[in-house]
Amino acid sequence: MDKFVIEGGAPLHGTIATSGSKNSALPALAAALLTDEEVVLERIPRVRDIRTMERLLVDIGSDISIDEKSPERVVLNTKKIVSPEAPYELVKTMRASSLVLGPLVARAGRARVSLPGGCAIGARPINFHLAGLEHLGAKISQEHGYIEAAAPNGLKGAKIVFDRITVTGTEDILMAAVLAEGETVIENAAREPEVVDTAHLLRKMGAIIEGEGTSAIRIEGVSKLHGATHEIIADRIEAGTFIIAAAITGSELCITGCVPGHLDALVAKLAEAGVTVTAVDDTTLRVQKRHGPLHPADMITEEYPGFPTDLQAQYMALMTEADGISIITETIFENRFMHAQELMRMGANIRLDGRQAIVAGRSHLTGAGVIASDLRASASLVLAALMAKGETVIDRVYHIDRGYEKIESRLSAVGARIKRIE
Ligand code: EPZ
Repeated sequence: MDKFVIEGGAPLHGTIATSGSKNSALPALAAALLTDEEVVLERIPRVRDIRTMERLLVDIGSDISIDEKSPERVVLNTKKIVSPEAPYELVKTMRASSLVLGPLVARAGRARVSLPGGCAIGARPINFHLAGLEHLGAKISQEHGYIEAAAPNGLKGAKIVFDRITVTGTEDILMAAVLAEGETVIENAAREPEVVDTAHLLRKMGAIIEGEGTSAIRIEGVSKLHGATHEIIADRIEAGTFIIAAAITGSELCITGCVPGHLDALVAKLAEAGVTVTAVDDTTLRVQKRHGPLHPADMITEEYPGFPTDLQAQYMALMTEADGISIITETIFENRFMHAQELMRMGANIRLDGRQAIVAGRSHLTGAGVIASDLRASASLVLAALMAKGETVIDRVYHIDRGYEKIESRLSAVGARIKRIE
């Protein structure tokens, strides 16, 4: 298993470019199942979760060609749904496989999808997805760890009110409703930029949608969708990770190809902590060199446009360097502090209390052997290691490969002392 070896203390400098968004590419790839025509997706990040989704789509019946010269351009053709199934082998490695549920029921009238099971950061059931499909008229049953969803006479529009905001739940139901007969209204919908991007792609495919980006989305079903070409938005979580990499090392760094507005919550929180991040233009953010200590700043994760849970771990690493106490409250997932134990191995002073982590800075972290437990936890360990004194060895970096493309070469290109040991 690959490891990262990181020598801390090196300032970062220069410019780092943002990739396309993993969490927007996943629903976009699934959306291609909704038409028998060609869908061209651009700026698809070549990360492991994307490859898993591509393998799943090929099993379902899609032809996928990836342009060798520009592998971020993916051409999908799903002339026929050969097997409307998402097998356990794939779903257990990537829960987002459940994003094929809505498109398969809408296009093929049935789907058999393995239940995802728990994951490192929480139980993460898909009951809201299933309840939404039931409202659209699908019959849902469960057997042998699989969900069977059937709507042989097609789906019918309905009013769906999510008990709780769910990102992939909103995307899944949106993709089902675009081919349902009549009007669907999704209330308490997720407002994440990735949901908006999915709606933009579907509209290009001929769907009738209003209100994406608000908590009420209205869809008028159509009988057929056509092909389209769509460029995926920038990955705000990857850009946010690079911004915190600069802040934690006290560096000046430019992050290009991002959407500054998608990072307002992070930029505002960093300002509280004494880090200035300015928008150079509408696709570039500059982190200014920090003069003086980091200030502690409490943070509560929230649904968009609040502070993203996917940057919580990275932010915790930063707060270990602040001169005082900061309280981090995780409201989205029930078990998303796995990185805290590993940061404590590096000398951090963190006390966990249910959904709260009390971080007592300034910890002057030192390098150590640590283990990554999930995608964003591994990113926080990389950031902590960039700042820590001495050498850190991070094990199980396959977690980070799920959502960050060649992170070690891109960070070393801006001055980090990081290498991958295969
Ligand atoms: C998406 O997961 C992202 N994944 C996650 O990013 C992200 O952390 C999360 O949204 C929150 O922003 C993708 O987009 C592929 P939710 P999702 O449904 O959709 C509960 C990363 O690091 N819930 O919004 O699975 C759930 O357990 C990943 O890139 C139910 O109870 O998250 C959670 O507590 C990690 N029943 C809360 O709602 C349901 O049917 C929000 O989850 C659905 C969700």
